[in-house]
Amino acid sequence: MIAYGKQTIEKDDIEAVLKVLEENTFLTTGPWVSEFEKKMCTYIGCQYGVAVNSGTAALHCATFAAGIQEGDEVIVPAISFVASANCVLYQGGKPVFCDIDPETLNIEVSKIEELITEKTKAIIMVDMCGQPCHYDKIREICNQYNLILIHDAAHSLGGKYKGNKVGSYADITCLSFHPVKNITTCEGGMMVTNNEYYYKRGQSCRSHGICRDFKEREKANSHYYEMNDLGFNYRIPDVLCALGINQMNKLDRFITQRNEIAKKYDLFFEKHKEYNEHLKNYYYNEWYFKKSIYEQKNYLHFQKG
Ligand SMILES: Cc1ncc(COP(=O)(O)O)c(C=O)c1O
Repeated sequence: MIAYGKQTIEKDDIEAVLKVLEENTFLTTGPWVSEFEKKMCTYIGCQYGVAVNSGTAALHCATFAAGIQEGDEVIVPAISFVASANCVLYQGGKPVFCDIDPETLNIEVSKIEELITEKTKAIIMVDMCGQPCHYDKIREICNQYNLILIHDAAHSLGGKYKGNKVGSYADITCLSFHPVKNITTCEGGMMVTNNEYYYKRGQSCRSHGICRDFKEREKANSHYYEMNDLGFNYRIPDVLCALGINQMNKLDRFITQRNEIAKKYDLFFEKHKEYNEHLKNYYYNEWYFKKSIYEQKNYLHFQKG
């Protein structure tokens, strides 16, 4: 039985977590959260990050920030993890499913336009199994119809599209740090953006919709705050951010190792064609076959550089 996934936790990861526990100052909403956000933004090449306690929470912060509400439609790919569409429902919107391209498993760009109505507010593109979507074409559609582009990059942190790092080009990008993903914080996620308004809305969604966090209240020497929106508690603990920061140092190595493993699958299945038919309906496994095709097409930019 091949495991669905296995995280890599090394001695220095454990030490990083223990350090925060031993300091015994902040366990949540402390300095490690913003350090993690900064480190992610520097790696990706984007301006703002909102670290949260899951990729699902990051997606909800994104639909919240995008102002999705009842009556709005959002186009999402028909094949993805449930969270890619649920984040629309959380806001009272309607996910409109678009077919996928069986070659890439990503949204079929040529089928998007026929789904657009006057109610359409956004498109969520998902880099299924790490394969970056055709951003240029999707952006063109978004510009033409004035739609917000949300990028579910839960599978593709560290990937590139035409030389730009995943996370740097959509209006809002959402990452997941669940153990099966490219780095882990046990559970965790981040919403990243270059748009200050979306950033502030994401922060509001993360912490109850209140206007001042405790640091600002301390600075103002006042406990006063207002609740401007119905937000949530999506805060991620400092302990987990310390793990995330340490894992970031290894991200490129993890990706290289994953690609080496994928090559072994390619080699194996090349020699054992009898498995191909059997696996045709299993998309996650099928990726291992298809990866070599993607590389030939030269739009899988998972290798460093
Ligand atoms: C494509 C996709 N989006 C979003 C998520 C949600 O991430 P999380 O499990 O961190 O909530 C996942 C999780 O597996 C995913 O595969």
